[in-house]
Amino acid sequence: MAKSKTPTRAANKEVKNLIEDLLKKLHTSEVPEDLPCRGEQINKIEKFLRSVISPNGESSAMYISGVPGTGKTATVQTVVRRLEDEVGPTFKAIYINAMELIDPKEFFVRVYKEITQDSKRVGITTARRHLNLLFQSIDRKRPPIIIMIDELDHMCTKRQELIYDIFNWTTNERARVTVIAIANTLDLPERMLSQRIASRLGSNRLTFEPYTHQQIQSIITARLSDTTAFDDQVVELAGRKVAAISGDLRKAIEILRRAAELALDAKASRVSLEHVQSSIAETQSSIRMGYFQSLSEHGIELFRAATTQVMTTGVEEFRFYELFKHYLSFCAGQGLDGNELIAREIICTLSSMRLIIVAATTAHSHNWWHRKMQLGVPLQEALDFLKSYKNPDSP
Ligand SMILES: Nc1ncnc2c1ncn2[C@@H]1O[C@H](COP(=O)(O)OP(=O)(O)O)[C@@H](O)[C@H]1O
Ligand SMILES: [Mg+2]
Repeated sequence: MAKSKTPTRAANKEVKNLIEDLLKKLHTSEVPEDLPCRGEQINKIEKFLRSVISPNGESSAMYISGVPGTGKTATVQTVVRRLEDEVGPTFKAIYINAMELIDPKEFFVRVYKEITQDSKRVGITTARRHLNLLFQSIDRKRPPIIIMIDELDHMCTKRQELIYDIFNWTTNERARVTVIAIANTLDLPERMLSQRIASRLGSNRLTFEPYTHQQIQSIITARLSDTTAFDDQVVELAGRKVAAISGDLRKAIEILRRAAELALDAKASRVSLEHVQSSIAETQSSIRMGYFQSLSEHGIELFRAATTQVMTTGVEEFRFYELFKHYLSFCAGQGLDGNELIAREIICTLSSMRLIIVAATTAHSHNWWHRKMQLGVPLQEALDFLKSYKNPDSP
């Protein structure tokens, strides 16, 4: 008996490992070997870095921008890692993600410690002063330093003095310190840096455009090509489906990770299209949940009114006046001042979030009171949303 079980267990374990391996591969901190669609950016960054670390290289600065999920972090890290592998410790690379700093000024402490390799505690002021001094002087023996600041947007303080200090280091050409700043906003240098420093960036500015659906699909396909945890035909389909809901590659990868988790939970042997579809449904629901949570009190009461209407009648479609009746009574219960103008305005918001679907006007339904609408989410999901909503005034 026990004997016949062993191979199954071994096989199960293998499947588990296969999917777990895939999960690891899709982890956000995992930088893939290959970055399709970013060849141009890779070349530019590589050329820039080669010039600053060359024997007569000078201090310099580069600014990289693009919306989240466009591969900025992965690209910069890949180029630096490849260069490190190639030329060894002839330069020092320091990577700091500003979003991870509790206080943006901690940045100076982190850089100081990386450079000095000193494990002793050091205060922000001391670290900052030391660094300012260090980069004012010229030390031919010190290897060039490359400081990557990711999520630079989080370093912005009211007076901009942090960013000013950091970029100012690069104005001493022979100090051989280079800053690569990565941010979400395109025009941050114009807004945050002095004219002198912004103009020093010159052509060292790089924009990462959002990936197109085709690019997302091909990247995903490439990332999954060497795994057998996915059913073959699923890889392509998953790529296409995932690309259709989001242009943010990170979201696309999260969907695949979730699909793999679902397969693991279900003790399935491979990740199938059903897992991908369930994962997509969950993701879409969580996007809608985010919208729901952003609603005003009137928005919540309108959504509650729509849900109540559908629940009490059992009919999917309803008209504005039916919804409005419930809305007014809910508002009264909450001490809110409900009125038609607000309700109509919010219906438009709810409709843009696809939480409520408003039928197109026909000749007979110009009149708002008779406008036909329905819930944009399954009834159960709507009820779950409302259950999760806690009135801030209630205890
Ligand atoms: N061209 C690409 N090929 C493969 N994976 C990519 C590519 N671009 C981004 N990724 C992956 O997508 C995710 C998001 O990329 P990331 O570099 O963090 O974006 P950003 O820094 O612009 O927000 C990461 O998991 C990254 O490894
Ligand atoms: Mg990033």
